[in-house]
Amino acid sequence: MTSPLLEIRDCDAFYGDSHILHSISLEITAGSGVALLGRNGAGKSTLLKSIMAAGPTVRGDIRLNGDAIMRLPAHRRAAAGLSLVPEDRRIFPHISVAENLLMGRRATRNGDTPLTLSQVTELFPMLADLLDRRGDQLSGGQQQILAVARGLVSKPQLLLLDEPAEGLAPIIVQDLAEQIAGIRERAGTSLLLAEQNVSFARHCTEQVFVIDTGRIVFSGGWEAFDADAERIERFLAV
Ligand SMILES: Nc1ncnc2c1ncn2[C@@H]1O[C@H](COP(=O)(O)OP(=O)(O)OP(=O)(O)O)[C@@H](O)[C@H]1O
Ligand SMILES: [Mg+2]
Repeated sequence: MTSPLLEIRDCDAFYGDSHILHSISLEITAGSGVALLGRNGAGKSTLLKSIMAAGPTVRGDIRLNGDAIMRLPAHRRAAAGLSLVPEDRRIFPHISVAENLLMGRRATRNGDTPLTLSQVTELFPMLADLLDRRGDQLSGGQQQILAVARGLVSKPQLLLLDEPAEGLAPIIVQDLAEQIAGIRERAGTSLLLAEQNVSFARHCTEQVFVIDTGRIVFSGGWEAFDADAERIERFLAV
């Protein structure tokens, strides 16, 4: 049997003395789109950062394509095929959109070539007219598209997206969902999407994990999610 793309076995995560994630185990198969739902403070960002080695102290086993990556620092996990788009987006304000995109090349896997600017604008046509614009001259929605696009420049196997829809107007959220669903199809990237917006997440993924106070309390497809909606709702209600 081939290994899953990502496999997390019995992981715990800590910020200092605070024990945030408890015995997390999950698998993501290559090519799939997976939503990670949970209310504020549930541990979504902590899990994405644990996968990327981007903050918390982590114990347990994380494997990418069957290879243990626990000892690798973030830049080597990026080179191994992971890309994290953090919740604060980190668009550089004083450089152009094109230069922001080129920053994403640093994370390219050994021996692989990053996407060119024209390949990026093929995936995200709305960026084509914005390439010379400075980062701080973009709207919130444009910044989010840029952050997602930059995360894809290194051609990751697995894109970790942290609440891309947060703070965006509903019409822009709809557009973003279509763009993300579209690039999954065209770029063939697997996706782990942390979200609180259930309908947005549903549009972009097939599988769901629900996390509550650092524990996985549901995993399955959207049909199983709907069948279990009454129980799940209390983990998502604010
Ligand atoms: N740098 C940190 N130091 C200490 N505790 C932290 C830190 N970052 C997050 N926490 C705590 O870890 C827990 C999980 O936070 P996390 O950011 O993973 O939640 P989240 O599900 O991403 O929430 P949100 O939807 O608000 O982004 C919370 O109790 C939070 O207060
Ligand atoms: Mg978060």
